[in-house]
Amino acid sequence: MQIAVLKESHADERRVALSPEGVKQLTKAGFNCHIETGAGNFARMTDAAYADAGALIASDRQALLEQADVLLAVQPPTSDALKQLKPGAVVMSFLYAHTNPALVEQLIQSRLSAFALDAVPRISRAQKMDALSSQANLAGYKAVLLGANALGKIFPLMMTAAGTITPARVVIFGAGVAGLQAIATAKRLGAVVEVTDVRPETKEQVESLGGRFISVDGAEAAVVEGGYAKEVSAEYLQKQKEIVSKKVAEADLVITTALVMGKRAPLLVTEEMVRSMKPGSVIVDMAVESGGNCALSQPGQTYMAHGVTIIGETNLPALLATNASELYSRNVVTLLLHVLTKDGLQNTDDEITTGVLITHSGQLVHAFTKNILQPQ
Ligand code: NAI
Repeated sequence: MQIAVLKESHADERRVALSPEGVKQLTKAGFNCHIETGAGNFARMTDAAYADAGALIASDRQALLEQADVLLAVQPPTSDALKQLKPGAVVMSFLYAHTNPALVEQLIQSRLSAFALDAVPRISRAQKMDALSSQANLAGYKAVLLGANALGKIFPLMMTAAGTITPARVVIFGAGVAGLQAIATAKRLGAVVEVTDVRPETKEQVESLGGRFISVDGAEAAVVEGGYAKEVSAEYLQKQKEIVSKKVAEADLVITTALVMGKRAPLLVTEEMVRSMKPGSVIVDMAVESGGNCALSQPGQTYMAHGVTIIGETNLPALLATNASELYSRNVVTLLLHVLTKDGLQNTDDEITTGVLITHSGQLVHAFTKNILQPQ
């Protein structure tokens, strides 16, 4: 069975879906790996390293696609690439299928079987395949560094002969995977970190990392489903806003990571709150691609509003392409070996497989995606 990995074509994508280490594992399991020339360059994974690991390096993209039984990618493959795959071929990448009807239509038309790395169920035996978590973790780290870099102030308390520098105040919205890594990173740099989340169980996790949890007393907390926060009441959001507004006004850096599965990201930092911040402060909106937690953030843009730098970087993991590719590759190899053997699909009734399988030989089979794209 032939596995193809292309150089990612999305403009700001620097990751690669499979590392040389991943090639070794798949080769050992009986697969042939074909890597497009230069596919790993940005991730510092050279053609020579892939060849040493047992891959064939190919420069003819079209032939690579036409002969592939499995296409591995980070970003959803382009419709051109999908058209060149043979019917029955397998695609494995981030797909965000429920937000991408044109992509789903193309998968159906090309009669492909597509597995979405963004749909791995949140159960312990699937943790090694959970690419959303592996990438969010790195993104949380990078968000702090970007924020720190844009701030004209250091993070730690520093006592010098010329005077004492007070620590930076960081406010983080959302203590999921990205938020927890952001807390840890900001604490390591010496900041005072305050955190808000709708899931009450995050309080303990925040405190164990040295963060201060901003409690919203007397308000209804979020219902959690499958590890994801569901939408909370307007009353909760109002109470949260009142308490958090004061913290935001005092903050040097605000990092927002709040997402609600299948919905627009909640709007948590209003224009009024931005205006209340000190000039020179910074906001990093990690939810910018899902609509944004900050009213003023713009996807892919860094700009200043009311004296505050607003960073709307859309692909933070790609800025750490080496580690992000290493971890993504482990996720993808583990998933692939779970759902495929060199003879074809396996474990088709398993919870992990049904969770990630979007189309099967051109049929839309994924219940959640079907409900959104083809409601009854
Ligand atoms: P996410 O990316 O969906 O959301 C980020 C955070 O924003 C969440 O903590 C959420 O509660 C919070 N949030 C939502 N609305 C908010 C609001 N209005 N104000 C403040 N915060 C808000 O979440 P993520 O990081 O993907 O995972 C959430 C949790 O799921 C993890 O902390 C973990 O407990 C669980 N999980 C379990 C896994 C497993 O068992 N395999 C794998 C990954 C996560």
